[in-house]
Amino acid sequence: MIKPFFTSEYVTLYNHDCLEILSTIPENSINMIFADPPYMLSNDGFTCQNGKMVPVNKGKWDKSKGFENDTVFHEEWIAACRRVLKPEGTIWISGTYHSIYQCGYILQKQKFHMLNDIAWFKPNAAPNLSCRFFTASHETLLWARKDKKAKHIFNYDEMKGGYFPEDKLKKENTQMRSVWSIPTPKNEEKMFGKHPTQKPLSLLTRIVKASTSPGDIILDPFNGGGTTGIASTIVGERFYLGIEIEKSYCELTKERLGKIIKGGSPFGNPGAYPARQLA
Ligand SMILES: C[S@@+](CC[C@H](N)C(=O)[O-])C[C@H]1O[C@@H](n2cnc3c(N)ncnc32)[C@H](O)[C@@H]1O
Repeated sequence: MIKPFFTSEYVTLYNHDCLEILSTIPENSINMIFADPPYMLSNDGFTCQNGKMVPVNKGKWDKSKGFENDTVFHEEWIAACRRVLKPEGTIWISGTYHSIYQCGYILQKQKFHMLNDIAWFKPNAAPNLSCRFFTASHETLLWARKDKKAKHIFNYDEMKGGYFPEDKLKKENTQMRSVWSIPTPKNEEKMFGKHPTQKPLSLLTRIVKASTSPGDIILDPFNGGGTTGIASTIVGERFYLGIEIEKSYCELTKERLGKIIKGGSPFGNPGAYPARQLA
């Protein structure tokens, strides 16, 4: 049995390859998956950050192994996610054009039913240095259901009537549209150091609120700095199972989570965590 890196009342984090951990999870057991797979864009280029020119490279994990090998990688982890997802369960996949079209093609090939493609607009995106093409200022999030006939969770009223102060496009008490304006992570979200592709907490709390219910199990096979687990903890009453191959990012996740859950779980039920739920 593989020992988790970290467990708390509602969180279990594995420092391991996601395919190995996914193969140990019972089929049809997970309510929602959020996956932010490697972008495969670390090609030794340069980008702009805080007005400075910096290498685009995120890490070894983000290097492309060529189009065909990258496609096989995406096919394998998406199939492994499909196996563990409940029939009514949904999967979110985020990415840029470097990976998202491959993932979208594979979702359809593996008979997922597409629900939405969300454009996450970053109003504070970094400028383009070359001035030879448009400034990249959005990422795409695909949202799909495992079984077309099953009834998935969509908390429509919470999305329509909720409070989204950071989103200048969302009008009060109107339907949530598929373009979300959310700035990149705030400084306080990076107080323990940051993951190079860390997602904003308000993006993940919105996703958790929109597509899960109390008691649900949420899985992130590419945990990174743990944003999905932290968002699940903030929303509350959700179990989180994270998998991350790099130890330093597991340590970062533990520190970020520690800040939220120190002094006990904010929503009670001590002793329960995904591994127990799944047993
Ligand atoms: C795009 S980042 C995720 C960032 C995360 N959403 C956040 O907000 O911090 C992808 C992560 O997947 C991890 N990773 C890459 N291959 C993996 C694998 N086979 N199994 C588990 N984790 C993997 C990388 O180390 C990296 O931290």
